[in-house]
Amino acid sequence: MHATKRGCPKCLVRGSVLVALLLTSLGLRVLPQRQTATELAAPPVLRNESTRPGVVEVTLTASATRLALRNGQITDVFAYNGSSPGPTLELREGDRVIIHFRNDLAEPTTVHWHGIHLPADQDGSPFHPVPAGGRRDFRWTVPRGSAGTYWYHPHLHHRTGHQVAKGLYGAIIVRAPDDPLPRAITERLLVLADQRFRPDGSIDLAEPRSMAARIDAENGREGDVLFVNGQEMPTISIRPGEVQRWRIINAAAARVFRLAIPGQRILHVGSDGGLFERPVEVDELVVANSERVEILVRGGAPGTRTVLRSLPYDRYIPQTRPRDWDRPRDILTIQTSRAPAAAAVAIPAVLRRVPPLDTARATVRRTVTFGQGMINNRHFDLARVDFTARLGATEIWTVENVVGMDHPFHLHGFQFQVIERNGVPEPFRSWKDAVNVRRQETVRFVVRFDDFPGKWMFHCHILDHEDQGMMGILEVKR
Ligand code: C2O
Ligand code: CU
Ligand code: CU
Repeated sequence: MHATKRGCPKCLVRGSVLVALLLTSLGLRVLPQRQTATELAAPPVLRNESTRPGVVEVTLTASATRLALRNGQITDVFAYNGSSPGPTLELREGDRVIIHFRNDLAEPTTVHWHGIHLPADQDGSPFHPVPAGGRRDFRWTVPRGSAGTYWYHPHLHHRTGHQVAKGLYGAIIVRAPDDPLPRAITERLLVLADQRFRPDGSIDLAEPRSMAARIDAENGREGDVLFVNGQEMPTISIRPGEVQRWRIINAAAARVFRLAIPGQRILHVGSDGGLFERPVEVDELVVANSERVEILVRGGAPGTRTVLRSLPYDRYIPQTRPRDWDRPRDILTIQTSRAPAAAAVAIPAVLRRVPPLDTARATVRRTVTFGQGMINNRHFDLARVDFTARLGATEIWTVENVVGMDHPFHLHGFQFQVIERNGVPEPFRSWKDAVNVRRQETVRFVVRFDDFPGKWMFHCHILDHEDQGMMGILEVKR
């Protein structure tokens, strides 16, 4: 894991009362590919069709379409509302959410609301496929205290990796009425993904039974092109000394981003289920696929530039480790403008309370053993329940990875708190729905099934592994 050191947030922060109403509202309908030095644009925002307060009603359509993803070359993709990443679902705690989903693809799909605490039958899991040409409405309420960054993606069994690789993924942002971070801070959304193209510009999906398919099956599919919001190496502009809040989602199928900004320490303020209790100053952060982080980034000296970089991260078995795995990769440029230095903003030393789940009340302990392609020596079976839990129970889960590569564990529907990794107590509490389990590592977490009986997935979030059956079912019963 990354070395974390607690630091004084105020030293790091000399921010600004800001300004710069960004390109956030510019829809990128047709993505004419933005070459280097193009400002980062946010994905479009899903339009709320409801005028009732506290209700967000949107229409989301998955369809096959063509987009200029790269160098102006037109590519066949799958997209939500014609864009990839799909439009952002912007919500507030307590909102009633109604999503009119239309599947205009020529194949079944689902939409899963990754990380959201909601009724099991609204989860968009493999239990709820929407047939080609079909429609379905999803209805759920955003829980209080759940402000954070989430995302949505397909979850059809055996087909998740394919549909995500074709372009189906989008962000969900949940805001709190009492967000402790100053409103004046400019916020950015960074949806990270990777892609692989053929010379003709089409998306490179490995031919069945090819060598590439075998490597994808082992490592999970990676691509050499790194995208932020569908853009390659975009620029984020910032004023000298300005502080920006970045919400980052790793939407890649398998790639782990080990993020750093040369010449700068980063203030890490949140994870999957929202803000930490206190900011933590770090040199780098490991973001496994499906994980989210919130960070505060500071502008440098006038006219200087730096980058957001992904440092080498060895998650592989030696046999299939990519040749260039140890090459650092730049993701975007951070350009500090020559504008006057931004006025200081104070970052609170305490962000919010993360109430501890009481491990002493745990009534059940379970072990999830990750082998290669299997969990507890079994492949996924939609007709089998692997674990049964009582509604209201607090449980301690041990996830042990007994093989030679990393596997990120994800549980649907419930946020948990990591207690220890390889016996080492977690330095601070946070809400997580995904946790990377390193090769030969054991991670222990506590979870409480406070609501929502039903069948829930847990799985490795390397999509190729999930599709191979590295998934199980937890049934929460009254
Ligand atoms: Cu992000 Cu089961 O999924
Ligand atoms: Cu999920
Ligand atoms: Cu895996």
